[in-house]
Amino acid sequence: MGEHFRVNGGARLTGEVEVVGAKNSVLKLMAAALLAEGTTTLTNCPEILDVPLMADVLRSLGCEVEVDGACVRITSPAMPLAEADYRSVSRLRASVCVLGPLVARCRRAVVPLPGGDAIGSRPLDMHANGLRKLGASTEISHGRVVAHAADLHGAQIWLDFPSVGATENILMAAVLAEGTTIIDNAAREPEIVDLCRMLQQMGAKIEGSGSSTLTVHGVSTLQPTDHRVIGDRIVGATWAFAAVMTRGEVTVRGVDPHHLDLVLDKLRSAGAHTSTWVDGFSVAMHGRPGAVDFVTLPYPGFATDLQPMAIALSAVADGTSMITENVFEARFRFVDEMVRIGADARTDGHHAVVRGVDRLSSAPVWASDIRAGAGLVLAGLCADGVTEVWDVEHIDRGYPRFVENLRSLGADIARVDAEPSR
Ligand code: UD1
Repeated sequence: MGEHFRVNGGARLTGEVEVVGAKNSVLKLMAAALLAEGTTTLTNCPEILDVPLMADVLRSLGCEVEVDGACVRITSPAMPLAEADYRSVSRLRASVCVLGPLVARCRRAVVPLPGGDAIGSRPLDMHANGLRKLGASTEISHGRVVAHAADLHGAQIWLDFPSVGATENILMAAVLAEGTTIIDNAAREPEIVDLCRMLQQMGAKIEGSGSSTLTVHGVSTLQPTDHRVIGDRIVGATWAFAAVMTRGEVTVRGVDPHHLDLVLDKLRSAGAHTSTWVDGFSVAMHGRPGAVDFVTLPYPGFATDLQPMAIALSAVADGTSMITENVFEARFRFVDEMVRIGADARTDGHHAVVRGVDRLSSAPVWASDIRAGAGLVLAGLCADGVTEVWDVEHIDRGYPRFVENLRSLGADIARVDAEPSR
């Protein structure tokens, strides 16, 4: 059955934790290395499974990739191969972000439809429409996205929704297109700002980074660069929720607290005390957290990736919370696992109503995706007895040293290789 985590609830988390680079940034930055011949070096990379998986995708495209702890070196050839290996790509959702760079460099891309989390349908229509506007024909055939472009030219592109992945793919194609591209209703996530910063260091001409209108003046070539990956705000926020739920006191270093302005405000509404500085913050909670409502939205709204933490917090809060999911429709599926562990939670379409209970009751539970897994562990920290969380390879895909970090904060958690007890 593989590994699981055994969480013995009841500990109050205290201490300091260091957060490294963001998963949702590093994978795109690795893809961006395809845009320039030569060696790009990324530092502060998280040591998570998705990084070597992405390295395999890039190797299948002709790159040399060296993963050395937190440092990833990618040497991109004069002309990358246009066809990504089916097995590597289908194991990793984020690998679809090689589409834009390949179209830009090779004028051709064949990218298998990606795999990834079970959080709802993840179509690629906005990626394809944007690339089409830039002059690439795209079609889906035999489980692969196939794109061709004689020339890439600037265009005005309006996204139906500020999709993170579509913004990134279109951006990475537009930097090498001829003329000016305007992406309207672009995503504004800090990870996109990080990508813009790296592309600018490579010689790209981008205006409006961090706003919903990105203007890209295409250039003919880019140069490789060295870049430090931004800290993972989702991981940092996970530790903040853990502190509040366990009535603890935690200092988080390595994250820009402005990326968590709304999150920290929500935690203050729940009764927490916070303080922030340039690259970190601390959260302290005395007594039981109060109930707060959460609505997920694209950045700067409350991140959908933190919705499971919001459910977990609401499950032990004093009062009733309403959580509204606006980004991934199937993301509430994991709530059944929360109920297994004693949460009084009901979902109806986009909404979940959670009535907080004083104490959750331990049970074996299954993680369906990275963030659901983290939310279940947080709930286990507040449950009576020992909670087993299974399918933890999902958590390992997004959280470097997850168990070690929690243990350093005083949690009673261990990674175990054994059969489930039911
Ligand atoms: C990225 C993040 C993920 C996060 C999500 C939203 C990575 C590797 N993953 O995923 O952790 O939860 O942003 O913040 O960075 N959509 C379409 N058509 C498209 C593209 C998207 O309908 O062509 C829809 C999706 O189904 C979803 C919504 O748009 O409902 C948002 O998706 P998107 O922002 O693209 O998420 P990802 O980039 O896949």
